[in-house]
Amino acid sequence: MNPIISFLKYSHKEEDMLTEPIKTVRHFLIALAVMLIVGLPSTLLAQEAQLPDQIQKDKLELGKRIYFKRCVWCHGVEGGGDGPSADRLFTRPRNFIQGTFKIRTTDSGELPLDQNLIDTVTNGLPGSAMPAWGSGVMGGRVLSEDEILAVVQFVKSLVQDRDFADEDEEVYVQEFGSNPWGTSAPYHLGVPQEDIDAGKEVFLKNKCFECHGGEGRGDGNPTMKDDWGFPIFAADWQQCWNFRGSRRNPYDPFSIVRTVSTGLNGTPMPNFKDKITVEDRWKLAAFVNSLCPRKKIDKNANKPINDFLVKSKFTKGPVSTDFNDPMWQAPDDDMKIKPRPDGYTGKKNQRWHYIALAGQITRGQRNFKPKVDNLWVMSNWSEEEQAVYYLVEYHNRFLSVDPAYPDAVAIQWPGQLEELFGAEKPYFIYGDSKKPVDIWKANFMVKDYKDTAAPNPNGYDIDVSVKELVGHGFDAVSEKETPGGVTVVNSKYHQGRVKIMFKRSLTTENPDKTDVQIPVESFIPISFMQWTGWDKEHDELMAISTWCYTILEPDNPASMLYMPPILGVAFFGFQMWLVWMTKRTRKMAAEGKVK
Ligand code: HEC
Ligand code: HEC
Repeated sequence: MNPIISFLKYSHKEEDMLTEPIKTVRHFLIALAVMLIVGLPSTLLAQEAQLPDQIQKDKLELGKRIYFKRCVWCHGVEGGGDGPSADRLFTRPRNFIQGTFKIRTTDSGELPLDQNLIDTVTNGLPGSAMPAWGSGVMGGRVLSEDEILAVVQFVKSLVQDRDFADEDEEVYVQEFGSNPWGTSAPYHLGVPQEDIDAGKEVFLKNKCFECHGGEGRGDGNPTMKDDWGFPIFAADWQQCWNFRGSRRNPYDPFSIVRTVSTGLNGTPMPNFKDKITVEDRWKLAAFVNSLCPRKKIDKNANKPINDFLVKSKFTKGPVSTDFNDPMWQAPDDDMKIKPRPDGYTGKKNQRWHYIALAGQITRGQRNFKPKVDNLWVMSNWSEEEQAVYYLVEYHNRFLSVDPAYPDAVAIQWPGQLEELFGAEKPYFIYGDSKKPVDIWKANFMVKDYKDTAAPNPNGYDIDVSVKELVGHGFDAVSEKETPGGVTVVNSKYHQGRVKIMFKRSLTTENPDKTDVQIPVESFIPISFMQWTGWDKEHDELMAISTWCYTILEPDNPASMLYMPPILGVAFFGFQMWLVWMTKRTRKMAAEGKVK
């Protein structure tokens, strides 16, 4: 019998024999007990099965109108996930016919509640093409609450293989307990280290690494398929802003607890409801969450804000090429959010710069599904060596095993910096006839590597060959006749993270004048390109950044703390570029305009 009921019955029988004051105490105790029991983690109380929310037929007309205006482009006329733009998207739009939904509060395999779908349509599915229709898209909302409720009803009516009214479709709504530390984003401030460590034990014991990789970059298994037969990869926990179910609040551990409790229907991501207690799921979530760099998240793009100025730190003597040297150490965290850990020995203010990448979709073979959408960049320069070092790192779950398609990453500079005025820059893809670019490109293959083998915890060495290119425009890229002496002085592929360290002298004697001459204390345009060999990216099929700036800081960078107006202009330009690229991709993808 339910413990509450038996307790109440027992108390009631005794009550007649008690005197008034004792009764009052008794009443108080009963109330207290009821409060305690109700407040207990719900796993102790039996869950009630219930029918899923039924389709609200009166909303279907409105829902249909919205669906055919907003959703059909991706999800298709019948909801088969085969709209005109579907082929160009990775992950593909959902096929609604089977009634399989990833983000739910119901048990594994079950239909979702209306509220789950409403949250999805409102916030979108970050890291996929599914837009947020009700929160913060360019600061406003596309659909009202009523419209979202209606379109959700219509989506449910597209489900053919299951019946929301069937008794066999009863759902169990899970309970997830509550955040035991009461901290809010940016999370893990205030979570005791021992809880994070305990979470790591849960991670190891439940072998999450078999899919998510040893450090959570999703590099565990390249051969997974989803229920619709399409390739799928485990989430990269170090890019939590791409969690489908994060509801645009990437540092909230709740969404991880929910994912681990319910699994993601239609994907290999299992549920651990019976394997991991609710308390342990929160600790596991604390661990997973602690791996994600703390960055300020752009409300519109739902990704970290681009660092449009890469600061190169001054060193009097030579720069170390050892990745572990303190001069190359910085927590990934944005300092404004999280203070540096005690005992930090790196350079003052050394930091990782986040550089956003987008698929190149302007010219030639367009890249709609770039596998990499950001780089982390750090830089030092040496007065003694008169040389500059750029360390470029990025996450890629799997690297190329086919020498015809090596992986590659490149830094692009204005070829003739001294000829540029003010904010003038060459065209952002390979320059133009008047304003050439200087491209330092590192092509590389991993040694002794098989993409299907379990990741090597010690990492892999890589074979790098540097090419220096001159770009005079999209169709006018060629290798330099006299290279400017760019070298890659260290490189590694470690648990899904590529590390490439470039070096070049500040100036060169090149008679062809094809090399950038790098001044100190001056804002220099710089941009990045990246090719994923595993996905056969090559030439213009690549990921690109916009122009950012870099500066070689003087010994005492105090004078650099204020921002010259040029940066304001650059930042504004970047925002416009992002908006333009996003709109353009969406539009082209949605309307199937490109061949
Ligand atoms: C630009 C393409 C695009 C458009 C437009 C779009 N979606 Fe999606 N949608 C997707 C993709 C891609 C996914 C699958 C993401 C995944 O599986 O991780 C998805 C998944 C979904 C899901 C499944 C959620 C789950 O938990 O599995 C629902 C529901 C959904 N979309 C509803 C809508 C509605 C309603 C609209 C119109 C208001 C819409 N979508 C418009 C791309 C789109
Ligand atoms: C059998 C492979 C597999 C195992 C084991 C596995 N996962 Fe996953 N996980 C996946 C896949 C695949 C996805 C991505 C699904 C998608 O993109 O829709 C995923 C996604 C996730 C996400 C992101 C959810 C979101 O909102 O997008 C989290 C968090 C996660 N897993 C946590 C865990 C934890 C914690 C464990 C261990 C307790 C674990 N996973 C074990 C395959 C696995």
